[in-house]
Amino acid sequence: MSIYCCCFLMTTPLALTLLLLTPLTQSHQFQYQTDEQFHEELVVRPLAGDHVNTYFQFTTRWHYGSQSNLYHTQLTPRVIAEILQTYDVKELHIGLTQGLWRYESWGYPIVEATGGAELWAWFSSPNLTNSSVNKQWMRLANVFSGILCASLNFVDNTNSIAPKHIFRPQFMESGNQSQQFVRYATLPREIVCTENLTPWKKLLPCGSASGLATLLNSGYVHNTKYHSLGVKVRTLCDSDDSNNCIVELTQTANLVYDLKLLEQSNTDFSLRRLFGMGLNGYCELATSSKIYVQRNEQGERFQLSPQPQQELISTVGGYSVLYGVYDIQQQFEGPGARLFNIAWVGPKGNSKREQTSAPPLYAHRYLLGNGQKHGRIATEVINSHYEPLPVVLMELVPWYVHAYLHTLRICSKPQHLHEYTTSELKFNLLHYAPGKQRELPTHLEVGFMLPARSSALITIEVDYLLLKWLEYPPDANHGHYIGSAVISSQLPIGRNYTAMPPEGHLFKDSFNASRATYTLTLRTEALIVSLPTPDFSMPYNVICLACTVVALAFGPIHSVATKLIIVERQTTIPRNLLRKIVHKLSNRFSRRSAPAVAAADQQQSKQDGKDKGIPSLLEQQLDQAESKKPRDKQANM
Ligand SMILES: *[C@@H]1O[C@H](CO)[C@@H](O)[C@H](O)[C@H]1NC(C)=O
Ligand SMILES: *[C@@H]1O[C@H](CO)[C@@H](O)[C@H](O)[C@H]1NC(C)=O
Ligand SMILES: *[C@@H]1O[C@H](CO)[C@@H](O)[C@H](O)[C@H]1NC(C)=O
Ligand SMILES: *[C@@H]1O[C@H](CO)[C@@H](O)[C@H](O)[C@H]1NC(C)=O
Ligand SMILES: *[C@@H]1O[C@H](CO)[C@@H](O)[C@H](O)[C@H]1NC(C)=O
Repeated sequence: MSIYCCCFLMTTPLALTLLLLTPLTQSHQFQYQTDEQFHEELVVRPLAGDHVNTYFQFTTRWHYGSQSNLYHTQLTPRVIAEILQTYDVKELHIGLTQGLWRYESWGYPIVEATGGAELWAWFSSPNLTNSSVNKQWMRLANVFSGILCASLNFVDNTNSIAPKHIFRPQFMESGNQSQQFVRYATLPREIVCTENLTPWKKLLPCGSASGLATLLNSGYVHNTKYHSLGVKVRTLCDSDDSNNCIVELTQTANLVYDLKLLEQSNTDFSLRRLFGMGLNGYCELATSSKIYVQRNEQGERFQLSPQPQQELISTVGGYSVLYGVYDIQQQFEGPGARLFNIAWVGPKGNSKREQTSAPPLYAHRYLLGNGQKHGRIATEVINSHYEPLPVVLMELVPWYVHAYLHTLRICSKPQHLHEYTTSELKFNLLHYAPGKQRELPTHLEVGFMLPARSSALITIEVDYLLLKWLEYPPDANHGHYIGSAVISSQLPIGRNYTAMPPEGHLFKDSFNASRATYTLTLRTEALIVSLPTPDFSMPYNVICLACTVVALAFGPIHSVATKLIIVERQTTIPRNLLRKIVHKLSNRFSRRSAPAVAAADQQQSKQDGKDKGIPSLLEQQLDQAESKKPRDKQANM
């Protein structure tokens, strides 16, 4: 649009006249459309067991107006705007994670993620069908495979499902509500490393050149116990006016450091220790750059240096959290280069560990059974709250594992008991889409009420499939993954709850965000099953053995077939020096008495003749015998 051109050419006089020529109604729109903001935030939360959680959140929010403006991006990366145009995607979540979040000791993360790669997206458009969504979903995964250098291109129908109850859309559509489609896939095998971090940072307006993103150095990020990169995109449109839309891109990096691994005896730490360097400034394009530091619970033990500029109390669902706030833009006011660092100084010589209570709901998952043919997937959900909680569990079982719905059981026990009793919980909600070999995964969603202070064990029996030999990965004996289960619930209290409210987009929007219930989503551990695996070393053994036999046979045959046999008479020369001299002397002597030698030779030849005499006699006899034969014949005649 012409408005945007004006924006870029404002310095030239021509553009100025153009700007003056534009009607007043449009200049009003001008302000309205360029409402694009970027915010950077960092949250530091000391956790139990000498761990520190650092959570980076970069939010770009663009009030873009009508669809055609999506071609003129400024802070929002062009690719994000383009996927909104090309595919009918309205909301997208991607997580790339290494490690396991430990709910019991760390509480809940601000953004949930499962190990490996995970993505889900909502599509909505008037004329969409299931099959066209499947195509768009795969293309979308391919696009992000390129953008994030991850193996998301392996997402296809064999590992994607359409969750029915567990995910709620967080986007807003304009106009009449058209049908919404959701697709979900995980790649638990995906390994997250530097090659994902670098392209992820490139999506930021300042890249890794300045601002909080400079702290994310691959050397330090990948030394953590848990690290998770996230990308979330959603569109928010006015329900009446389709030209009033916002696109929101949130990039998150959630890290957990183990202080014991930072090579120091005490538990003091600082930004410089965690990230290898202090902060050298803020992103010039950012509207706000803030660091939030949790001061209560585990954070109580630490003295901060320098002191935070501001302290805030956030009360959510009856539980208060105290945050210290550093405004980085204020810190770097005024000229001069400097480095900003925050130090956490712990109590000296006090090794007493504070006991933490487990959060209201958490879960674990494991495999039961033995052998490589059958097994049972068991998911345990524990409710430590004093009220019953509704729980929805979603399982995505890959096609190489057959799950049998009739074996689905939900047993329960009070929390203090060790053994599960035979009492079964009834499920209020069940969605089951059977899998199909090499085509579809099994999709199971179960909903039930989990009684107060008790735990539930959800088990389902499975058979492991024998794969075709090309379907095994290169390291077949590593095993095959079953992605984590997703568990969702509604908490009535805000204890340990840290997730952001769906209507907010900045971390500070979660302050004092009390509501009736808090939607919680958890991920369990991923499982590794060892499918029946053939002995892949056998062909190599056979090849090696066959080659050895061939080599052994070839050598002698080749030499027999190609070598000439020459028999050489060996002159017997004595080895000993003394004997050599004697030999030479005797040779010399024998040469002098040459006549004698000649006589000896004659004698020798006579003897030879005698030897030769025997065959000559034989020949004579044979001749006689042959000459007799005709005579005999004649006699017979
Ligand atoms: C959960 O919250 C309670 C109360 O705020 C706190 O005492 C406990 O340590 C927290 N648990 C974890 C694991 O953070
Ligand atoms: C949807 O389909 C109807 C009729 O089938 C057509 O008139 C309309 O243009 C289509 N809308 C889009 C967005 O393709
Ligand atoms: C798409 O498929 C799902 C389940 O497979 C079904 O519930 C839904 O009705 C289908 N939607 C359309 C528009 O066909
Ligand atoms: C929404 O649907 C109603 C009737 O169902 C129709 O009158 C109205 O024009 C539609 N609005 C839009 C923006 O399509
Ligand atoms: C949250 O509410 C409490 C009490 O109403 C208030 O003191 C506090 O300043 C609020 N915090 C924020 C961040 O607004």
